[in-house]
Amino acid sequence: MIWEWVLPVGGALALAGVLYWQLVIAEGTYLGPRAVAWTYDLVASRYDAIKQFRPQDESWFVARPLLQSLAGVERPLVLDVATGTGRLPLALLRDHFGANGGRIVGLDLSRGMLRRARAKLRPYGEQVWLVWQDAGRLPFGDGAFDAVTCLESLEFMPQPLQVLAEMVRVLAPGGTLLVTNRVGREAWLLPGRAVARPAFEEALAAHPLRQIEVRRWQENYDLAMARKEGVPRRDRVQDPDLAGLMRCPVCQGELVRGAAALSCAACARGFPIREGVVQLAGHER
Ligand SMILES: C[S@@+](CC[C@H](N)C(=O)[O-])C[C@H]1O[C@@H](n2cnc3c(N)ncnc32)[C@H](O)[C@@H]1O
Repeated sequence: MIWEWVLPVGGALALAGVLYWQLVIAEGTYLGPRAVAWTYDLVASRYDAIKQFRPQDESWFVARPLLQSLAGVERPLVLDVATGTGRLPLALLRDHFGANGGRIVGLDLSRGMLRRARAKLRPYGEQVWLVWQDAGRLPFGDGAFDAVTCLESLEFMPQPLQVLAEMVRVLAPGGTLLVTNRVGREAWLLPGRAVARPAFEEALAAHPLRQIEVRRWQENYDLAMARKEGVPRRDRVQDPDLAGLMRCPVCQGELVRGAAALSCAACARGFPIREGVVQLAGHER
């Protein structure tokens, strides 16, 4: 008799637990990048209110160390992978990153998050470019950026180590990497995504990086800062263009900029710019 209600209730509770784990804690990561982007589309309008980032903390712990590492670099180029609602670009620009002619590219797979980022970053005009694309395939040439960042996001990607390798690839010699790894009490619920600190350090050390520093940051993250080996280049173009930095996500050809789209010089594919965001995602190789 008791089984008549124990089984259905137990089953419903188990299902609710699995859904909570998959959609709330793991934010869809085990269902694929599109599922993650969908969960972020849903929360985009509330993301900043939920997170309540404090500008002085953002400046102290993120923007200033990055700006210090970029001191002496003329017109630095920064790539923020999984930029979300523009947290890192905003922190840098509030701390006068733009004064030396620098530019930031923010890339994300959630259109909702990018829409929020665009609205917040509009006053900074062309100092920030936004790109809708999966971080698993960074559409940029080798060594294109003086700094590459990725905050609170690697654990939601199917192959975090591959994304780390991509970030190091697009980082210029002597450039700065700033990246987080999820730790804390829920990290064990993200197997294959979040790793323990020694494994994180080992993953960083497997790349041509030096001065690797990892420290605890906020409640749930380790924050790593490192420099790519090599000598920083001095041949910076006067006024870099987004198209010049990017590669076609399909054939790796060079892109040229038109009024409302980028197009590939090699395969002639077009990538529209809608509401200030370059639309790359969806073009499979
Ligand atoms: C917790 S938010 C962090 C956003 C921002 N970095 C911050 O610190 O506020 C995670 C972000 O990662 C993005 N994301 C997750 N998987 C992605 C992928 N495969 N490619 C690009 N962005 C991704 C989500 O859309 C979301 O904006």
